Amino acid sequence: MVSRRPHLSIGRNSLKIGGVDTKSLAERYGTPLYVTDLGRVLERFDEAKAALTARYPDVLIAFAYKSNSTFQVVSALARRGAGATIVSVAGIETARRAGVAPKDMVFDGPSKSKEELAAAIKAGVGMINAESVQEARDVDALSHSLSVKGARIGFRVNFDIRAETHAGLATGGREHKFGVARREVIQFCRREAQKLRSARVVGLHSHVGSQVADPEVFRRQTEEMVGLAEELEATGTEVAELNLGGGLGFPYTKEDKELPIGYYAEATAGSFARSSWSGRTRLVFELGRWVVADSTVLLTKVNYVKSAGKVRWALVDAGMNDFIRPALYGAYHEIVPAWTSSAERSAWRYDVAGPVCESTDVFGRGRRLGVRLSQGDILAILDAGAYGSSMSSTYNMRPLTAVATVEDGDSALVSPRGWPPGWKARPRQRPRSG
Ligand code: LLP
Repeated sequence: MVSRRPHLSIGRNSLKIGGVDTKSLAERYGTPLYVTDLGRVLERFDEAKAALTARYPDVLIAFAYKSNSTFQVVSALARRGAGATIVSVAGIETARRAGVAPKDMVFDGPSKSKEELAAAIKAGVGMINAESVQEARDVDALSHSLSVKGARIGFRVNFDIRAETHAGLATGGREHKFGVARREVIQFCRREAQKLRSARVVGLHSHVGSQVADPEVFRRQTEEMVGLAEELEATGTEVAELNLGGGLGFPYTKEDKELPIGYYAEATAGSFARSSWSGRTRLVFELGRWVVADSTVLLTKVNYVKSAGKVRWALVDAGMNDFIRPALYGAYHEIVPAWTSSAERSAWRYDVAGPVCESTDVFGRGRRLGVRLSQGDILAILDAGAYGSSMSSTYNMRPLTAVATVEDGDSALVSPRGWPPGWKARPRQRPRSG
C-alpha cells in the first residue's frame, strides 16, 4: 500500500507540501530542489516511538543519519528525543551539534579506521558496535592509549538471518561482510572480555538489512539477541543494551508489502517485553528510512520533451547524481506533476530522465502523468526523503542539490546548491626557470 501522505495535496497540475505551493518553492529556490516537511518527519518519529514504548518503555530510537543528514531534520529529531546512529566522524560532530547526548549515539560500520574509532572513543559515544573481534581489541587498545576509561563496545552479531529485500540492501547472511559470528562473540566474551584494560563489552547489535517488511525476520532477530544475551551472562558479560538495528521497509509502490509500525513494534519490542531479558536492558532502534521516506519530494524542471522511436522522453534538470536510488537499485518512485503550463488532460506516457550521459539516469519509465508536458513544467519525485539528498553527489561536476524545508506554512533554504570541489581551482603556476 502506498503511504497516505497526509502532508501532500496532489492536484492535476499543482502540488503542495505542508501547505506550501511547490511551484513557488521552485521559483524561489531553483531546481533541482529537495523539499522536506519537518512536521511530517516528527509525526512519523512520534508514531514509531509511541508504538515501541507502548510495548516496552525503555526505548531509544537512534535515527540513522545516513538516511537523511539534513541538519534541520536531525536536530528537530534530536529535540524530540532521538539519538543518532552515525558512521563517520562528521556524523559524530553533526549529532553533537544537533544536541544528541553522547550516550545516545551509536557508532556503526564494518570497516572503521583507527582515526574514526579514536574520535568515537574521545566523544564518549554510547556504543561502538564492533564488527570483528579484532575491532573490539582495537577499541580497547585505543581507549587505553587515549586514557579514556569505559569505552562501550557492542558486538554486531551476524545471526545468518536472510531477509527478503533487494540484494544490495541485504546484510544479514553469514557470508556478508557485516557483523561477527555468534560463536566468535561467545568465545571472545569467555576468553578476553574480562581482561580488557579500558573498554567494556556492554551491548549487542544486529541489523539484517534495509527495506524489510517481514515481521518474522524481526521476531527471529529479537529472539536470537535475547538467547545470546542469556548465554553471555554465564561468561560474566552483562548485556545492558540490545540494539535491533533499523531496516523497517517503506511501501514505495502499491505492490510493496507494508509492515505497519504496530506490527513491527510487536515483533521487536513486544517479543522482547515477553522475554527473559525484559527489564534488563535498554532497547535501541536505528530506524532511518521509515521515519523520513515520505517527508520529502524532489522538484525538478522539464528541460526538454522529445520523442525517440516509441518513447516520449521528459528530460529533467535532476540527474542520478541528485537522486541515485532508481539508477542504483532500480527503485520505483512515484512521479507527479508539481506544476504544468497546460492543464489539458492527456493519457500520454513519459520516460522521465536526467541530464547525465548514462542510460541508467532514468527516474521512471512509461509514466502516465495525466497532463501533457512542456518545457519549464515542474515534476515532483515522491518519497525521496530517505537516501535521497544524503546520497547525492557532484558527479558530472554538477552542483550538489539544494534542500529546503517547510514548517508551519513557511519555507527555508537549509542547504544551498553547492559547487563540486575544485571547480574554481586555478591551474598551478609553473615555477619560473632560470
Ligand atoms: N543500521 C545499520 C547498521 C545500517 O546499515 C542501516 C542502513 C540502518 C541502520 C538504517 O536502515 P533503514 O531503517 O534506513 O532501513 N541506500 C539504500 C539503503 C542502504 C541502507 C544502509 N544501511 C537505499 O537507498 O535504499
